Amino acid sequence: MNKEKVFSVDFGTTFTEYGFLGEDGRPNILKTPSGSRKLRSAIWFRNGQGTKFGDSAARAAPVHPDHVLKNFKPEMDKAETNFSVDGRKLKPVKVAKLFYSHVKNQIEESTGQKAERVVITIPAFFGDVGHQVFKRGAEEAGLKVERILREPASAAVGYAINNPLSNQETVLVYDWGGGTFDVSLLNVKEENGSPEFNILRNEGRTDLGGRDLDRLILDEVFIKRFVKEHGKDPTDEPEVRAEWLKRAEDIKKGLSENDSEVDFIQGKQKQLSVELTRNDFDKLIEPLVDETIDITNKLLEETTKSKSDIDRLVLVGGTTRIPYIKNKISKFVGLEPEKGVDPDLAVVTGAILIAGAKGNQVIRNKNGVRVPLLASEVRDVTSHGVGIKAVDFDTGKDYPAILVPKGEPLRAVGTEKFHPFHDDADKVEITIIEGDSQDLADCRVLAEGYELEISEQKKRENVDIEIGLAVNKNGLIEIVGETPFGDKIKEEFQNPSIIDKGDENDD
Ligand SMILES: Nc1ncnc2c1ncn2[C@@H]1O[C@H](COP(=O)(O)OP(=O)(O)OP(=O)(O)O)[C@@H](O)[C@H]1O
Ligand SMILES: [Mg+2]
Repeated sequence: MNKEKVFSVDFGTTFTEYGFLGEDGRPNILKTPSGSRKLRSAIWFRNGQGTKFGDSAARAAPVHPDHVLKNFKPEMDKAETNFSVDGRKLKPVKVAKLFYSHVKNQIEESTGQKAERVVITIPAFFGDVGHQVFKRGAEEAGLKVERILREPASAAVGYAINNPLSNQETVLVYDWGGGTFDVSLLNVKEENGSPEFNILRNEGRTDLGGRDLDRLILDEVFIKRFVKEHGKDPTDEPEVRAEWLKRAEDIKKGLSENDSEVDFIQGKQKQLSVELTRNDFDKLIEPLVDETIDITNKLLEETTKSKSDIDRLVLVGGTTRIPYIKNKISKFVGLEPEKGVDPDLAVVTGAILIAGAKGNQVIRNKNGVRVPLLASEVRDVTSHGVGIKAVDFDTGKDYPAILVPKGEPLRAVGTEKFHPFHDDADKVEITIIEGDSQDLADCRVLAEGYELEISEQKKRENVDIEIGLAVNKNGLIEIVGETPFGDKIKEEFQNPSIIDKGDENDD
């Protein structure tokens, strides 16, 4: 058995945390060289002089806005993303590779051990693109991905290990971080002393986070008031925009503690003093907060559970520090949020425990009691349906044939028989889609004309081929099926859209 340590990385929109399970069976979150357990997820490309990560990169943003990538994670789930930075274009996989490489180096420097095996976390509502980008980015950085955990599930593991639950509980994890919002409903139970986590449903928005609240303060308060006072919006200068965004975030954080905050914003030789009260801030963010409540409501409607079935409410992510948000979700569910959850570290803590399980280590709770946790006992579900584009022979119209619907426990498989378009073809081309709609236009195309080789080259007039898709434990798609001649089809789906064709330099 491989005895090598397994490390964990929670790559966040704002902060990234990483660590490993110590010999004492307890999670050990590593510190950055500046002594923080949170690394700013920012990269500064220094004009051919290499890259800098973390706080220095975040500080460089207002000065060198065209050379810094910051708050970029939500865009990593979109196949069309091409980050413009440092006078070039970078695809998400390359950015993920750069960032994971830095984290790998940090881990190796601070532990003196090789970091090769990892458990990584990603937002629960990310699609196939996000799953593949993060896995491939980590692999290109020289890491072997032992497990992709969804962030809310990971937080639930971290929480449940230290706060022993009764035999069977329904837990709602509301996870609102810097760039993404996830909500997951899960069942946690203990079977022979070993905790089991069954996720029932995930919902969310992959591009809604604390950064959007900062942008609201920028657009609705700073810019509006500045224009009213001085007649001009200076944020077309990227330096001013980056500086104002930083100040907006500071005000937002301050309002979690105080009733009002004052700051001075500067642009085009003009200054303005801005005061924002907590009351006005709450009104400003209300529509976005309501959206998360609607999403939570939708999740419950799609399951057989109702609010009264929820035993515990676990709040994760820095944005849940905002009192208005805490109150709103708490009122909606009818439960006080659980105490003793660190909103920033809950996700990485769970991932470290699972990494420890993967490395066959002894796991202990905060009282030193051994917990027989198995990585296989965290079972997630599909967050989106997956299928293929099919043609209705009667109407001639394309339609989405969803083979694995949303909410299916992983590993999930769905197969269906299809009649190939050309009877004598020795391969079939399929279009793989992601979505839950009956309407093709509402589904996301993952790969068009994806070729499946059929090794048996017989003429196959009027025979159907079974084509199936599976979504594995890591949320990755596999193509499965069978031809009428007994040829088994099984291959991992490699999303072609995430691959960088015109490869460029790495740093
Ligand atoms: N006291 C606070 N009040 C309000 N917002 C806060 C506070 N502290 C942190 N935040 C916000 O929380 C966000 C960061 O949260 P967190 O570190 O959980 O996100 P992340 O893990 O980086 O992002 P994600 O999980 O979405 O990828 C930022 O938008 C930050 O401004
Ligand atoms: Mg997070």
